[in-house]
Amino acid sequence: MASINSIIKTFKSELRHIYPNNEIQAFIEILLAYYTGLSKTDLIIKTDETVDSAVCQQIESSIVRLKNMEPVQYIIGETEFYDLKIKVNPAVLIPRPETEELVHWLINNHKKDKKTRVLDIGTGSGCIPLALKNNLPDAEIFALDVSKKALEIAKKNAKINKLDISFVQLDILNAKNNNNLGMFDIIVSNPPYVRGQEKTLMHKNVLDNEPHLALFVKNNEALVFYEAIIGFAKHHMHKKGCLYFEINEAYGKQMIELFEKNNYKNIELKQDINGKDRMIRAMKY
Ligand SMILES: C[S@@+](CC[C@H](N)C(=O)[O-])C[C@H]1O[C@@H](n2cnc3c(N)ncnc32)[C@H](O)[C@@H]1O
Repeated sequence: MASINSIIKTFKSELRHIYPNNEIQAFIEILLAYYTGLSKTDLIIKTDETVDSAVCQQIESSIVRLKNMEPVQYIIGETEFYDLKIKVNPAVLIPRPETEELVHWLINNHKKDKKTRVLDIGTGSGCIPLALKNNLPDAEIFALDVSKKALEIAKKNAKINKLDISFVQLDILNAKNNNNLGMFDIIVSNPPYVRGQEKTLMHKNVLDNEPHLALFVKNNEALVFYEAIIGFAKHHMHKKGCLYFEINEAYGKQMIELFEKNNYKNIELKQDINGKDRMIRAMKY
């Protein structure tokens, strides 16, 4: 048994050389909420309460894993995305707030559309299609990924959240146009977009833990997924259909040019909350 107060002290002293204070505070809140059900306020007003030894062991093992730079979301096996609980494991990228911004943009633009058919390419945990279905209940939503393990998690997330999504395993870089996916009104994707050369700028906990299949493209193939998806949309998206992409902040201009070259109209580049070019939308003509 240990008091909440002593657990908080242990967290701070064990992790202070590795993480900044605000991150340690976030770990405490996330892990104690997960293992004990205590809220942020409880951690201030119930500091003398004790937790049993099983919970103490789970907390100790979490601290060891945090010291090894494992993301807290993989430790507890879940995260939140656009008000949904999403299971995650190292086969899938941990959904990012920027992707919530992309989803928010799409939902706002299409909430009045009737019977929309939507495809998410590179679905990972399934966060995008799940958030879309939760907010656009009349839409028919499909999601694809090349990774069987990612699709297993995405399917589990659909089941847990009781949302109806059709999942497909497909390599979008080698997709034949004769597949039977049919025609879509909206295609959305947050594809791998980090160039190999950017590895040196990345945090160790991302680099060592998150799937490289989800993150990286070759230095000289920065736009390979966007080109492939625009090629796919030629045969699988209706005229006046919309493509939504999350993008590498360094490629806003090139993405506009790519859409223009393919005769897309109403091209809109949007910054994320940090002021970086992060998402783009365009209409097929
Ligand atoms: C950046 S992650 C995005 C995951 C999720 N949509 C999100 O926003 O958190 C890219 C996803 O693309 C998938 N992927 C990588 N190569 C692919 C390919 N050739 N065809 C289809 N999906 C692919 C990865 O498995 C990964 O799940």
